[in-house]
Amino acid sequence: MNKKVMTIIIAALIVVVLVIGGFMLFGRSRSVGLDSSIENKDGGVGKTTLDSDRVLVVYFSETGNTQKLAQEIYEQVGGDIRRIEPVKPYPTGQELFDYTKEERDNNERPEFKDLNINLDDYDYIFVGYPMWWYTLPMMMYTFFDIYDFSGKTIIPFNTHEGSFDGGTYETIKEFEPNATVLDGLPIRGGDMSKDQTDTVKEWLKGLGLDEKN
Ligand SMILES: Cc1cc2nc3c(=O)[nH]c(=O)nc-3n(C[C@H](O)[C@H](O)[C@H](O)COP(=O)(O)O)c2cc1C
Repeated sequence: MNKKVMTIIIAALIVVVLVIGGFMLFGRSRSVGLDSSIENKDGGVGKTTLDSDRVLVVYFSETGNTQKLAQEIYEQVGGDIRRIEPVKPYPTGQELFDYTKEERDNNERPEFKDLNINLDDYDYIFVGYPMWWYTLPMMMYTFFDIYDFSGKTIIPFNTHEGSFDGGTYETIKEFEPNATVLDGLPIRGGDMSKDQTDTVKEWLKGLGLDEKN
């Protein structure tokens, strides 16, 4: 092997080491769906970069199903996660049904504890909730009253026992006309005892928001 070839091989090795080192150093920059070219539903091609530093997963969950889904999404997209917790705890069992029906019939706005977030810090907000009485829990009405999502992207998800999203994604669009609301993910609460990793993965892919690298 002559000197010239040796020099080329050594130079190539240095480049490989630098590239791998760079990935190891910056691999935790928590960038998601790196500039993935995606095919939009209308046939156009879009480019979506989801920087997980700008991602928030926020959810309300009374009996844990939506929480499981929120955790799965969070594991795949990164960012921050917050649970919406009522100031006044809800009753359990049958009482929960009676209490929340009245809450909905009276169009109440139950308070929730401080989420300790500044929405300015986020561009992509995954918002999760269970179906309650064919709509969002009134706690979520409070949530959308308080926060202004203008210019943000909302990605809804919910659990249910038969209503799917029950038109709530459209309701969110009406609440937040100046936000972009992407296609949501409804999963049956009973199915949250099974692994939903792939379902979430496929959904995110369909939105052009790949999971955390
Ligand atoms: C008060 C109440 C009302 C509900 N209303 C509906 C409904 O209208 N449609 C539906 O599909 N499921 C309904 N469900 C089922 C929940 O949406 C489902 O169990 C969900 O997974 C609960 O989520 P969580 O465990 O995160 O609280 C209701 C459950 C409760 C407790």
